[in-house]
Amino acid sequence: MTAFNRSCISRFRQFAQYSTFKKLSLPSQTIKSILSSPKENDARVSVCGWVRSVRKQKQVSFATINDGSTLKGIQAILNPEDAEKLTTGACVELKGSLVTSLGAEQNKELQVDQIDILGACDGTYPLQKKRHSMEFLRSIGHLRMRGNTGSAVLRVRHAASEGLRDFFRDNEFTLTNTPILTANDCEGGGEVFEVSPINCKDRTEFFKKPVYLTVSGQLHAEAMALALSRVYTFGPVFRAEESMTSRHLAEFWMLEAELSFINQLSTLLDVAEASLKESTHYVMRTCQEDLEFFNKWVDKSLMERLMTSVEKPFVRMTYSEAIDVLQRAQDKKEKRFEFPTVWGSSLQTEHERYLASEYCQRPVFVTDYPAHLKPFYMRANETKDGKDTVSCFDLLVPGIGELIGGSMREERYDILKQKMMDAKMDLDDYQWYLDLRKYGSAPHGGYGLGFERLLLWLTGLENVREVIPMPRWAGHCKY
Ligand code: 4AD
Repeated sequence: MTAFNRSCISRFRQFAQYSTFKKLSLPSQTIKSILSSPKENDARVSVCGWVRSVRKQKQVSFATINDGSTLKGIQAILNPEDAEKLTTGACVELKGSLVTSLGAEQNKELQVDQIDILGACDGTYPLQKKRHSMEFLRSIGHLRMRGNTGSAVLRVRHAASEGLRDFFRDNEFTLTNTPILTANDCEGGGEVFEVSPINCKDRTEFFKKPVYLTVSGQLHAEAMALALSRVYTFGPVFRAEESMTSRHLAEFWMLEAELSFINQLSTLLDVAEASLKESTHYVMRTCQEDLEFFNKWVDKSLMERLMTSVEKPFVRMTYSEAIDVLQRAQDKKEKRFEFPTVWGSSLQTEHERYLASEYCQRPVFVTDYPAHLKPFYMRANETKDGKDTVSCFDLLVPGIGELIGGSMREERYDILKQKMMDAKMDLDDYQWYLDLRKYGSAPHGGYGLGFERLLLWLTGLENVREVIPMPRWAGHCKY
């Protein structure tokens, strides 16, 4: 290395370590920062936002302005003539002094002396100051985030992903991006959307083979974990799900973690549990106002449930133990399940709900499912009592059912190849995946967390269509 290069590297290191940047100061402040930063009474401020409501009285009028940075926004006090200019839904800039409020609802309010209408709004604006049904709000997906539920959902969504990001950063996971277009069907369920350009006659003309929207980034994340040891991805995945349940979307977000050098499924469970708890705790810490709102209007047990879930360890049981529990409940006539609960049958929603909501009354990991119920990539356990199981888990949570699915991955070349042949997979398509076991394989495992289901857990809302800004499901792709 030349002396010049050495000096450049040393200056670069100094610069990277010690230089600081001035915080960017934007021309307008959010309502959250105006209300939270200490200001003298009568300090002059400018507030931009949308009018939520206007209350006109003879002497004085009040308007609530919200810019989405907080649940409640700010109360503005205006003279009645000025208030005439304001309509619900209009976008405004209000200037005036910040004064101590006489009302109990807020500490500070804005005494307005200047109004600018940035965007007028007429009387057809669909969001009025009353409770709207979830179905109605869904039909105005482009506006519903201007209301309390829609904006609180987006703030909690943001905080939940921040909490997850903190967890993975602190535990030395590298954030990677897996492809959206893929030639593989990771879950083997056939619920894939095929992609081809509209101006090609033959669907394989562009890529010279069928290509799909990804159902999971797992297989690609495995390649990255087998180079960087610990990785995670967070992105949209797509499933051509016909099921129109409150837990299924055609486009949803999944957080997928993959880590090498673990030998025990229990380590993976520890990571999944800690990541979920840390994210939940982050939301509890940073979104108190929103959680109080959901606790009041949506689910009165929400705050209690979140506290318990962070405090107490999750339950862990094997699939075989779960079947015993379900059979005992059925025998004692505690429960009448519609579907049979014999070893080897898949757990249905009613079984998952019973296990999490009634029997355990908190999140429960069900592990070691029968091999024939699970995809090819899961690591085979040793055959026991003639039963073939795989080293995997589903995390079931009260009121929702499956929130996370994961497994140790089959890292043994011969066993994996045999499983793929048994599943009648085209080995040529998956040669790269087999290569990972040929060139320096390592024990590893990972999991995928359905982000919208996490949002149900964090808000108490009942339908995943309420917690994603523009939901897509069979028959519905508005916007
Ligand atoms: O259990 P799944 O299918 O697991 C996988 O895709 C693995 N390859 C993930 C991995 O190990 N990296 O899906 C993971 C989670 C489920 O537990 C559920 O929470 C959510 O994704 N999920 C859905 N969420 C909304 N709509 C759907 N249609 C969903 N399907 C699965």
